[in-house]
Amino acid sequence: MTHRRPLIAGNWKMHQTAASAGVLVAEICAAIPPQSYDDVDVVLCPPYTALASVAQAIAGSGLHLGAQDVSAHEWGAYTAQISAPMLLEFGTRYVIVGHSECRAYARQQDEEINAKVRRCLKHGLIPIVAVGETHEEHAAGKTHERVTGQIREAFAGVEIGDVERAVVAYEPVWAIGSGTSDTPEEAATVIAAIRSAVPGLERARCLYGGSMKPENAAALLAQPQIDGGLIGGASLNAQSFAQIVDHARKAITTP
Ligand code: 13P
Repeated sequence: MTHRRPLIAGNWKMHQTAASAGVLVAEICAAIPPQSYDDVDVVLCPPYTALASVAQAIAGSGLHLGAQDVSAHEWGAYTAQISAPMLLEFGTRYVIVGHSECRAYARQQDEEINAKVRRCLKHGLIPIVAVGETHEEHAAGKTHERVTGQIREAFAGVEIGDVERAVVAYEPVWAIGSGTSDTPEEAATVIAAIRSAVPGLERARCLYGGSMKPENAAALLAQPQIDGGLIGGASLNAQSFAQIVDHARKAITTP
């Protein structure tokens, strides 16, 4: 049993238009019993273009709004970027920072990710800081070295009180979208290493991400180190997402 409040976040990635997002939110609201929100924080992270329609659709539901990235800058000549104040306009509470797809495709480096984390915290946004090793790093036995390095860089210079407010997502790159998650024991061991890498993280919520789905969520969430999930594919199906939320709820009541 954990003293940290569970969090289940859906990362929709580049799926859903503003119009289709409203339909999916309605399905999610119908599938999750409202009392679930007493025990679990549930966050939807749509693409930027669907933030407004999701904000409207979740109003009064207990669901929270998250974004998939944020600019490291406050404002200025940064074509195509979206700033923290812009996200706050929609009632955004959480921001995924440092997702492996942003690291790989948008070439985001640790220094920029650190600036994004600080930008979030300055504005009261809760960063969901994603770290994870590649298949090659995993095979070479470099998992702990890689993720603790990433996490130290992400939180460099951040005060302990802010570290405690943040959320970490351990997402092994090789598990994302593969259909096969890490084992619960292995994921818990890596998360324990993450927590000991930065003072304050022992109190922060740490999620697992990478092919979490209804079939494996209970076992992953039963690990005391794992406070929730960052869900990709399974978050696009209302029933699957709701089942994962239910597993998170049961994990806190099951000794
Ligand atoms: P999948 O759940 O589709 O593996 O994606 C995980 C992820 O990248 C969430 O951020």
